[in-house]
Amino acid sequence: MSIERDFDVALIASLALQEKQIQQNYRPIIAVHKWFARRPGTLFWGLLLSEFGEGSLAKSYYEANDFAGRVVADPFMGGGTPLVEANRVGCDVLGFDVNPMAAWIVREEIEHLDVVAYRAVAGQLLAALENDIGRLYRTDCPRYGDEDVPVKYFLWVKVIDCAGCGKSLDLFPGYLVATDARHTSNVLVCPMCGDLNEVADLKTPGSCAGCRGKLATEGLAKRGRCPCPHCGEINRYPRPELGPPRHRLFAIEYFNPRQRERHKGRFFKKPDAKDLERVEQASKGWGETSAEFVPDQEILPGDETDRLHRWGYRFYRELMSGRQLLGLELSCRLIAATPDKRLRNALATNLSDLLRYQNMLCRYDTTSLKSLDIFSVHGFPVGLVQCESNLLGIVNGKGVNIGSGGWTNIVEKYARAKSYCDAPFEVRTQGRRKTTTPIKGEWIGERRPGARPRSVALRCLSSTMVELAPGSVDAVFTDPPYFGNVQYGELMDFCYVWLRQLVGAGVEDFRRPSSRSLDELTGNATESRGIEHFTEGLSSVYRAMARALKPGAPLAFTFHHNRIEPYHAVGVAILDAGLACLATLPCPAEMGGSIHIHGTGSSIVDTIFVCRKRGAARPGQAFDSLDELATLMDGELDLLRAAGMTPTAGDIRCMVYGHLARRAIEKRKASWNPALATTARLELFAQTTLELGDCQGLIESLAKVEETAGLAL
Ligand SMILES: C[S@@+](CC[C@H](N)C(=O)[O-])C[C@H]1O[C@@H](n2cnc3c(N)ncnc32)[C@H](O)[C@@H]1O
Repeated sequence: MSIERDFDVALIASLALQEKQIQQNYRPIIAVHKWFARRPGTLFWGLLLSEFGEGSLAKSYYEANDFAGRVVADPFMGGGTPLVEANRVGCDVLGFDVNPMAAWIVREEIEHLDVVAYRAVAGQLLAALENDIGRLYRTDCPRYGDEDVPVKYFLWVKVIDCAGCGKSLDLFPGYLVATDARHTSNVLVCPMCGDLNEVADLKTPGSCAGCRGKLATEGLAKRGRCPCPHCGEINRYPRPELGPPRHRLFAIEYFNPRQRERHKGRFFKKPDAKDLERVEQASKGWGETSAEFVPDQEILPGDETDRLHRWGYRFYRELMSGRQLLGLELSCRLIAATPDKRLRNALATNLSDLLRYQNMLCRYDTTSLKSLDIFSVHGFPVGLVQCESNLLGIVNGKGVNIGSGGWTNIVEKYARAKSYCDAPFEVRTQGRRKTTTPIKGEWIGERRPGARPRSVALRCLSSTMVELAPGSVDAVFTDPPYFGNVQYGELMDFCYVWLRQLVGAGVEDFRRPSSRSLDELTGNATESRGIEHFTEGLSSVYRAMARALKPGAPLAFTFHHNRIEPYHAVGVAILDAGLACLATLPCPAEMGGSIHIHGTGSSIVDTIFVCRKRGAARPGQAFDSLDELATLMDGELDLLRAAGMTPTAGDIRCMVYGHLARRAIEKRKASWNPALATTARLELFAQTTLELGDCQGLIESLAKVEETAGLAL
């Protein structure tokens, strides 16, 4: 079989779409730790099966496969999707990533864990935390009078002192705490007295039940300015010269297990004196603690981190409240005291992942009524209202987690992820019914009694430095950085500085104080990395991979970008490596509703570039004119629609760019001169794509057809 001939676009697209809806239900392993913009496992599963498998993909998909002895490499392993899929079917895997967090995470994913022992040790950690700081996450229920019920979320608003009168003012951009989508009514905070009011209609919010003041949805803080309600002074924010922002606790969402039967909706309250006292206790407790594990690293300048500087943050620890720092420090101490190394590493990984929710950059989603973690977008946006989750987490009487962002949430999803390694499954969808099909005989790991051990070699290293034995690899499946879309090092430092402090700078990959690297293949203005750096790096990696491939073996990778220039870099890298591009296949790889995609016009469809030194092109993909490309695109869009997708202009653009790059590679292959300067190679490639015609016109006309079809539905 070969990917070019046997990859089933409609089947894999429909499976990938389903997977991306709730990725953790299809590939629970991704819950081991956050990585950015993971591609669907299904996509790489489809590549593995169509290259190494037998028979139709639709059939082999739900059967156990064994590709023992094949070697699969990924030079950009990130969160490890291609490697985990390959390991699961018995391949030996080689993974590289310049970011030390990637190597740590993929090791954690693949290395066997005794889940029963893990649950026991995690239970001990939770019990110890409950004993030490549980009281800081409790409140009294004003509605029914129950005392010490668990808090789900604390909501904080940023405050500044008025430059005119010196009084403290709240920077509320709006007063909405919750909509009625998941609650029995809308909840508004009163701008005058801070009481929470349940309101039926947001258009006519009326007046506050407490002070009779006028309720409103719109707040006073807008675009960096806020008038003082006391003296009218227009105050500017942020004010980095005053240090990190200050916050005021203004609302609490809690859970009252004793009243579940009779109470409808959620529980919200304005903090009372005891709640404020608990905040004081936490700050005092933290003030009296000498930190062993809270990192003291400065936040380095960067394309993403500069925003934090603009808000006055200088150190990573300043992103957390006193209560969060106290809880995290105590957690680290308990983890460090765990004798078993495997279990200790598992808990350390959990702590690193927990940080996403335990910081003062998390926001509260007023519709879904949950915390949005710091990485729900690929940057560090600083809001005016922040959400602090209960660090311990809440489990109801049936063992189900209530709320998000606590230890119990992290432990549960980690345990599920590691159980999946021992017994992987696929989810079958028939109409609205979903059934889980265990794939007996497959497993994720290095060794298992009675089975051939699998080699798992993972290195933290720039792949531009990698040298593999020539002709030693059966396939390279990868997902390179998409030029500047995600600043991996800048973002991952947020976790890295903590994990490094906890597991020790002595761990092989953790010697560097930052996970950033000048070799990271992303565009980055702060570090003056542009398209040439990206092209040269990608070219060097693909050349190394091409040398390592066995004769006829594939290098297949996914790619998407809104602009065509990064595709030029991809084309140059493939040509430099002496590879032919034999197919460009569309596959949905993101979810349209993702916060970082929604409303950006970005594509959710990746192009899979399938390259080899030589071979037959995918039938039906040749084109010599834009008209022929339009026909090819029509066919592919039909397949994506059949899979249940509604392609957007962004998707069409990426697909067209992918095909153009393939065709330009074909045209240039015979005469390509890798010795030309990088700018000259990029220009030559760009010129070749231009000679194929005005693709903007084609993209627009195809998008118009899609739009009309969408309206007609
Ligand atoms: C798109 S991500 C890979 C995502 C991965 N497939 C997954 O499933 O999570 C690209 C990765 O390339 C890595 N990277 C960037 N420059 C690199 C370099 N010079 N060498 C090795 N890895 C690099 C980044 O750290 C990032 O993890």
